Parts: sequence; C-alpha cells; structure tokens
Amino acid sequence: MLADRIRERPAAPLSRAASRLDALLEPFLAAPNRRALLGSSAARASVDLASATEDEVRRVAAELPRGLRVFLTDPIELDACLRRIGDLDAAPDSDAAVDVRIETEDDILRCRGRARAAASRMGFSQVVATKLITAVSELARNAFQYAGGGTVSVRCLFEPRRGVEVVATDSGPGIAHLGDVLAGTYKSKHGMGMGLRGTKALMDEFDIRTGPRGTTITIRKFL
Ligand SMILES: Nc1ncnc2c1ncn2[C@@H]1O[C@H](COP(=O)(O)OP(=O)(O)OP(=O)(O)O)[C@@H](O)[C@H]1O
Ligand SMILES: [Mg+2]
Repeated sequence: MLADRIRERPAAPLSRAASRLDALLEPFLAAPNRRALLGSSAARASVDLASATEDEVRRVAAELPRGLRVFLTDPIELDACLRRIGDLDAAPDSDAAVDVRIETEDDILRCRGRARAAASRMGFSQVVATKLITAVSELARNAFQYAGGGTVSVRCLFEPRRGVEVVATDSGPGIAHLGDVLAGTYKSKHGMGMGLRGTKALMDEFDIRTGPRGTTITIRKFL
C-alpha cells in the first residue's frame, strides 16, 4: 500500500530543489497527500529529498505521475498537474538556450511551456512567472502573425543576476511604425495594438531591433 511505504520517509526538511516540486503540486493536493506523494516518489527514485539536487528532483518528478493517479481521480486535474510536472522536466539543465521554432499556432503554446519551465527552474513567483509567460506569448504570436514564423529562444541567467532571457527573432518585414507602437498611438488593424507596449511594461529589460530583413526582440526578467 502506498500509504505504508510513505510513512518510512521523513516528511521534512525538503531541499530547496525539492521544495519547488512541493510548491508545484500545491494547487492540486492537500498538504499531507502532497508530502506522501513526494515521499513515495522519492523512495522509488532512490533520492533523499532533504538534500536532493536539481537532477535528482527531476528523477522524482518522473516518478510522480504514478502516485498522482492514486491521489487524483479527476482527469482534468490530473492532466493539468502532469503538464506542470512535464514543464519542470522540460526546464533547461544549464544556462544553454532552448530554441523553439514558430511555424504553427501550437508552437506559441510550446514557447509558453518553455517560459514557464524556465521561470519554475529559476524559482520565480507565480506572479512574475505569469508576466514572463504573457510577454513570451505576445512575442511568439507577433512573429507568427506578422512575420510568418520565427524562433523563440529561452535561456536561464545565473550571473551576475538570476533571471530568464528570451530572444524572439524573425525574418519578416519589420515593424513599420515602431515609435507609434511603443508610444501607444498606433492603431492596429489586427489586434489591440498593445502587445509590444504591454510586453515592455511587464519586463525588466526590453530591446528591439527591427528593419526590412526582420525583427529581433530581447526581453529579460530577473528574480
Ligand atoms: N514581428 C513582427 N514583424 C512585423 N510586424 C510586427 C511584428 N510584431 C508586431 N508587428 C507590427 O506591430 C504592430 C503592433 O504589435 P503589437 O503586438 O503591439 O499589437 P498587435 O499585435 O497589433 O495587437 P495585440 O498584440 O494587442 O493583439 C502590429 O499590428 C504589427 O503591425
Ligand atoms: Mg501583438
């Protein structure tokens, strides 16, 4: 029985890496169940949660879905929870950039997932993570809508400041009225005309280069 095995594991303290996993499960499970789930998954992965490293926590994450099926019976909740664990698994291992090609509308969702994974890896709060994900969405959608696609590159920053950097590049026609767009006086034919302005407001750093051969936008959000 799962519950018996769980009792063999100490519930606390959790390492910093493991407590992020714990926080990830928070919306889905009440506290005792969450601890039990982590404990049993850690036991299966042979990891001590009190000192678990980032890589070890990923091994625990891979074991979690088995336990989740025991605890969650609602298929929608289960899907949502598994998706979030999948994002954690998709988080980059190092400060190497992860590139997502934008060719279809679905790729915008993949960009969001990468941004969420990077935010979770860096320990962003829910509020700051949502700002980053929203900004990445806007850039990816613009590249898809106005440039026929492009690339979104997501990178975790460690030195000198912890944060996430996202570079959205395309080879489209460029942004003709950039001054008006950023001033909020541009009348968009397609949307609200607030995507880039909003993105700039949400981020700590925002740099844009645009011309007839394409557009590159770099945004950074720090912890
Ligand atoms: N990557 C891009 N390549 C070419 N033009 C772009 C690109 N991104 C934005 N634009 C142009 O800049 C305008 C403003 O973009 P912005 O994202 O701010 O607003 P929007 O896309 O029009 O509306 P919203 O994002 O609010 O739905 C767009 O209408 C489009 O003409
Ligand atoms: Mg837009």
